[in-house]
Amino acid sequence: MKYVKNFKKGEKKLSMVTCYDYTFAKLISQTEIDCILVGDSLGMVVYGHENTLSVTTQMMKLHTEAVKKGCPDKIIISDMPFLSTRKGISYAMDVAHELMSAGCSGIKVEGVIGQEKVISSLVQSGIPVMGHLGLTPQYYQSLGGFKVQGRDKESFEEIVHQALLLEDLGVFSIVLECVPNSLAKQIQEKVSIPIIGIGAGVDVDGQVLVLHDLLGLSGEKFKFVRDFSSLNTNVIEGINSYVLEVNEEKFPSLDESFK
Ligand code: KIV
Repeated sequence: MKYVKNFKKGEKKLSMVTCYDYTFAKLISQTEIDCILVGDSLGMVVYGHENTLSVTTQMMKLHTEAVKKGCPDKIIISDMPFLSTRKGISYAMDVAHELMSAGCSGIKVEGVIGQEKVISSLVQSGIPVMGHLGLTPQYYQSLGGFKVQGRDKESFEEIVHQALLLEDLGVFSIVLECVPNSLAKQIQEKVSIPIIGIGAGVDVDGQVLVLHDLLGLSGEKFKFVRDFSSLNTNVIEGINSYVLEVNEEKFPSLDESFK
């Protein structure tokens, strides 16, 4: 994963976006984005679940395949689903194998404590592993919801410790989600692999956002997201124009019909 690691040099920031399907993957393939995350956020964004806990390996596999077909030339990272790294090394290997066979170039694991052996076995097997610290959505029950992490001294230091541990285990980069800027800055300075932030401020090596959020499709307003587009309005207006023209018998025209 040399391409991603090079972003530590600080010459350019890495940009990453989630993607879950073929159509958006085709669009992303025409952009300058550096890499794609098939995040398990698909459980919420695509399937409407309240959290990511019910996302399965099969779901991750199918969405990874679809994204790979639409965007074969960019780096694709796929999320290891909830508990898949907690059922032993052999189980985690099988899941990672399925995801890699589906076309991703590496996998992402949330958290580190209790998963050290699994992470290092994956890395030693030639599977590029991306870490994920801070607000780790798969732990949202024990975290008490989707909350900013590392605000107090103890959790601040614990997250720094976990970032250093992940680096030692050989991960190639770390996603850092919803933490104070000062914590992100300290981790960015202390570890020698790229830190990719989401709600982690500007002092990191790159940024990742959920595609539907940055395009303004989700209708959600998070503090750390900016609407770079307002596709929701376009979609609603487009569908309503279609309904109107169907009702007024303006669609289809003769040109849009077969003779
Ligand atoms: O699942 C996901 O989309 C993620 C990003 C929010 C980083 O993990």
